[in-house]
Amino acid sequence: MLNCIGVITSGGDSPGMNAAARAVVRTALFEGIEVWGIQNGYRGILDDEMFKMERKDVSDIIQRGGTFLGTARCRRFMTPEGRAEAAAKLKEKGIEGLCVIGGDGSLRGASLLSAEQHIPIVGIPGTIDNDVWGSDYTIGCDTAANTIIDAINKLRDTASAHRRVVVVEVMGRKCGWLALTAGISGGAEYILVPEEEFDLDQISSEISEAYKKGKRYILVVVAEGAGSAVEIGKTIHEKTEIDTRVTVLGHIQRGGTPTIIDRVKASQLGEKAALALISGLTDLVFGFHKGSVVSINLHDAVTNKKILDKELFRLAKVLA
Ligand code: F6P
Repeated sequence: MLNCIGVITSGGDSPGMNAAARAVVRTALFEGIEVWGIQNGYRGILDDEMFKMERKDVSDIIQRGGTFLGTARCRRFMTPEGRAEAAAKLKEKGIEGLCVIGGDGSLRGASLLSAEQHIPIVGIPGTIDNDVWGSDYTIGCDTAANTIIDAINKLRDTASAHRRVVVVEVMGRKCGWLALTAGISGGAEYILVPEEEFDLDQISSEISEAYKKGKRYILVVVAEGAGSAVEIGKTIHEKTEIDTRVTVLGHIQRGGTPTIIDRVKASQLGEKAALALISGLTDLVFGFHKGSVVSINLHDAVTNKKILDKELFRLAKVLA
């Protein structure tokens, strides 16, 4: 049983991280446990940016995007020396275990901290990419997908008016979940993801044929890891001579007020993670599988690669 825990958000922020941190803090306080907030990711441990939290410190944040704790990607923490220093800083404050909210890189750092310094760790997957192995869901993916669909709806109006090809680039360096989900729900004709090969020659000739038959517009959703939408748009235009426009959505996808799904799921994960950590469990990631909260071994979560749902990809092709 631990008496004092810390909560940290790390890596790219995602909408719903605040709800998760709030749940960790309030669960700990409900259990009579001391809880510290760590600011600006792992760098905040090294730079002593940690403060003891009270209930009111997490008031008025559940509806906000970003993370009230701040986040960072910290190079110093990537070294064993940095992690040893971090462990010493945590001990100085009396923090006995950490609840880490972040994506695969942040969870990898957490796993190393646990293995090398024997600090109890539980993880909560927080990233818009939805690419953490073992969980069907990561905090923020629902809000980001909804942000993308809002943009796609608007782009369809203008694409249809002008009979244009529209190429939209969404986030996802290694994982095409956002592109696939937004592409299916946005009725995209083509969804290009890093996990699947595609042939731009063939796509271009299909687009030309579709236009000849009277198609008013074509929507292509590209995950950033599949290639540059600007280059893809240029190639399609050169090959088809159809007016083509490119939109790179960028960081707009990471912001905004979290959806109900992200708030509720983040709250559930925050509570379960805090309770596990307090009870002395370690090296677990709390996620969702088939609608229920599950715990995943931390090492497994960071060493396995999540596979994009092939069935969903097949469906996208059938419906295009
Ligand atoms: O991992 C989350 C993510 O938003 C990715 O989709 C994207 O590739 C990356 O972070 C962008 O990182 P940064 O904010 O450092 O540019």
